[in-house]
Amino acid sequence: METKTAAPTPREIKEAEARHLFQTYKRAELYCSHGEGAYVFDLEGRRYLDFLAGISVNNLGYGHPRIVRALAEQGARLVHCSNLFYNQYQGLLAKKLAEVSGMARAFFCNSGTEAIEAAMKIARAWGRAQGGAGKAKILSLNNSFHGRTLGALSITAQEKYQAPFRPLVPGVEILGETTVAALEAAFSDEVCALVLEPVQGEGGVFPMPADFMRAARGLCDRHGALLVADEIQCGLGRTGKWFGFENYDVRPDVVTLAKSLAAGYPLGAVLGGEKVAETLRPGDHGTTFGGGPLACRLALEVLSVIEDEGLIENARETGDFLMGGIAGLGRVHPAVGEVRGVGLMIGVELGGIAKEVVDRLLGKGIIANATHDTVLRLIPPLVVTKEQCEEFLAMLHAVLGNIEAER
Ligand SMILES: Cc1ncc(COP(=O)(O)O)c(C=O)c1O
Repeated sequence: METKTAAPTPREIKEAEARHLFQTYKRAELYCSHGEGAYVFDLEGRRYLDFLAGISVNNLGYGHPRIVRALAEQGARLVHCSNLFYNQYQGLLAKKLAEVSGMARAFFCNSGTEAIEAAMKIARAWGRAQGGAGKAKILSLNNSFHGRTLGALSITAQEKYQAPFRPLVPGVEILGETTVAALEAAFSDEVCALVLEPVQGEGGVFPMPADFMRAARGLCDRHGALLVADEIQCGLGRTGKWFGFENYDVRPDVVTLAKSLAAGYPLGAVLGGEKVAETLRPGDHGTTFGGGPLACRLALEVLSVIEDEGLIENARETGDFLMGGIAGLGRVHPAVGEVRGVGLMIGVELGGIAKEVVDRLLGKGIIANATHDTVLRLIPPLVVTKEQCEEFLAMLHAVLGNIEAER
């Protein structure tokens, strides 16, 4: 039987959105229809090579047959049954995530920002249990991004996001700079947690300095605070390891996940080590949708595909290849500044032309993104091939050449 969902034209879509949506997004002129592998197709059938992957969500690419099968089978069986009852997959997914992360327990929610909210509640509950009501301070880093709900926004240290919504949640201190000295100065026994992204994403693709990560672990231990790794963007294979923190010799106490976890179906998770295993008790936290059977079955399939197809190794190898290629372009195009990143999470400093480069790439059938105004952010699906990286590099070369010729 046919569904009754309308199939509107681009014009109808744009008009309806302009009139009836809160205008929270500045959309590019791309009307997505469907996808296949690393490619997205628009409503007119034009093909785009996707070097953004839905902002690190579509890590298996589009239309992966195992995901399509799991969606169809589980969609027909059971989408939701509430957390008042058991479903087949939530416990299994928690077990698998414990295996790959070294954590002990999971709580499932529906987005990254909710995973951060849960981590903040774990931090506050942990602090209270260890040191009473005074041990409630949460430290976060300049330039960080942890989400948009009021709790998550309070530790998202970017003025443009915070300013319109003050007052925010109290008991948060933002480090002015990501240095060991600043961290030492901010730490005290009042701190219950330090939250950081092992590789900052929205802030412009900045891997944490190794000495900073080591100091973070040491100071958390000395002051009885939790180290929370926000792996929402950099986790699940993207950096060439299961988790971004594995690129350092440091193990966090709490890990947040979302984005690619269930292949685009909304699912977030907070994972906690043995130390915090008893922190949340019945009634302390909950959500209607989190950890539903469809989301968890999809996530189990995602983790299994990552292993079966060697996608972590692919992220490392194609990431190195891509980074090398961009560094090569830097030798011929003066606009290319620092190239940094890990695995398939790469940032390219392009100064004032970053947004223009992104627009022109789109015109040539490549989806990429500029973050933090000046940084070209490349986060292709983990299934991307070297040939597709070459295709991307050729287009970037052409776009940079065109811009230079016009100036
Ligand atoms: C590191 C990080 N944390 C948290 C979030 C928020 O996740 P969500 O948009 O699913 O709420 C994001 C989203 O970009 C992110 O990159």
